[in-house]
Amino acid sequence: MQFPDEFVWGAATAAYQIEGAAAEDGRRDSIWDTFCRLPGAVAGSDSGSTACDHYHRYAEDIALMRRMGLGAYRFSTSWARIRPDGGPVNPRGVDFYSRLVDGLLEAGITPWLTLYHWDLPQALEDSGGWASRDTSYAFAEYALSVHDRLGDRVRMWTTLNEPWCSAFLGYCSGVHAPGRQSRPDALAAMHHLLLGHGLAAAALRERDPEAQLGLTLNLTVPDPADPADPVDRDAARRIDGQFNRAFLDPVFRQSYPSDFLADVAAYGLERHVRPGDLELIGTPIDFLGVNYYHGEAVTGHQATDRLLAHGAPVERPAASPYPAADEVSVVPRGFPTTAMGWEVQPEGLFRLLMRLQDEYAGPAGTALYVTENGAAYDDRVSADGSIQDLDRLEFVRAHVAECHRAIRAGADLRGYFAWSLLDNFEWAWGYAQRFGLVRVDYDTLIRTIKASGEWFGRTAAANSVAD
Ligand code: NOJ
Repeated sequence: MQFPDEFVWGAATAAYQIEGAAAEDGRRDSIWDTFCRLPGAVAGSDSGSTACDHYHRYAEDIALMRRMGLGAYRFSTSWARIRPDGGPVNPRGVDFYSRLVDGLLEAGITPWLTLYHWDLPQALEDSGGWASRDTSYAFAEYALSVHDRLGDRVRMWTTLNEPWCSAFLGYCSGVHAPGRQSRPDALAAMHHLLLGHGLAAAALRERDPEAQLGLTLNLTVPDPADPADPVDRDAARRIDGQFNRAFLDPVFRQSYPSDFLADVAAYGLERHVRPGDLELIGTPIDFLGVNYYHGEAVTGHQATDRLLAHGAPVERPAASPYPAADEVSVVPRGFPTTAMGWEVQPEGLFRLLMRLQDEYAGPAGTALYVTENGAAYDDRVSADGSIQDLDRLEFVRAHVAECHRAIRAGADLRGYFAWSLLDNFEWAWGYAQRFGLVRVDYDTLIRTIKASGEWFGRTAAANSVAD
């Protein structure tokens, strides 16, 4: 299984999940710092205040990537470090990323920068957060200030990571920061996130026409539990609406899907959409980042929040924007599951990539990259200190094979990033879930490349699926 020349092999992380140093060099609280202090919000009362201490150990982490033979590293910048409280640029904050980028380039690793991976400065949440239109404009300003310092060396720019999660886990179910539980706020947040993406993409494009610009979405492949049952088919349509089309249609077609608008008509989304917004949101992008973890079979028959509260270790209200009567449940199909309880369904990735190629990215001439794929498993350290995580290795191998199949079938897929380089802070799950190709011992912060990481490195080096 040889991949095309230039295929990008990388690993991904996010600032709050790995950096630590939460109060250093002028960084101020983000919504995640505040959320972690709320009793019961995060499993084990964990927080990202130390995390993997990557802020101090980034050179060691770059050396690990180099040893693994990775060609690219996808990381995010912390808005709360770069513009603390959403205010003026903090030179010490931005210097960290400048050192990181220099270190990556010296190691021959291409930096892939994501501007927003969920850590809004708390001060901006206090003035309305993503439910407020002002935050979209603040985001575009922040994007330009990062570009001012790093644009000479970073060529791959992603605006947002998984805005569905920011909007619906953050403002609807409250499983993620800032923990609000309001459908109208969640829909306002969705639009303002998309608008922020569009404003930033347009501004970056004007400032730097050669930069490669993209957006990363968490997309899914919902199957009706019973394909012959119109109720289940309609449930699958609603899931496709809120996860996929509510984001893809504005970005690629400059419109929200009419069925989605009808489904959420009670909650005021359209009040936030001003003339010109959809044109901005539809600013052409060079690549679409696809985060894929699992598909699901869904039914509209018994409404519970099992699917829509995903990401939550505890029972929470649904993350669905739909009226309660329209909620959707997952029906287990007997597939193996990961430690997150997510189905292992590699062929869903093939179907997703082909659909994106045929219906969205392909017609727009936009390249596809898998910007996250991976799995949490309960790793065991062997007596010799190694981690034989063959379940994760097989998970990644199976998904990489589906990527190969999609390329052969005509998808313009140009790279694959494993989630994650390191075990790290898994949001509401704290440190209880490990996704890393590299183990982090949270007592000593010692890193050990797992069997999956060794295998992934061999695959990257050979540009072909290793044994
Ligand atoms: C997607 C998110 O972007 C990332 O932050 C998270 O850790 C992984 N999914 C795993 O849940």
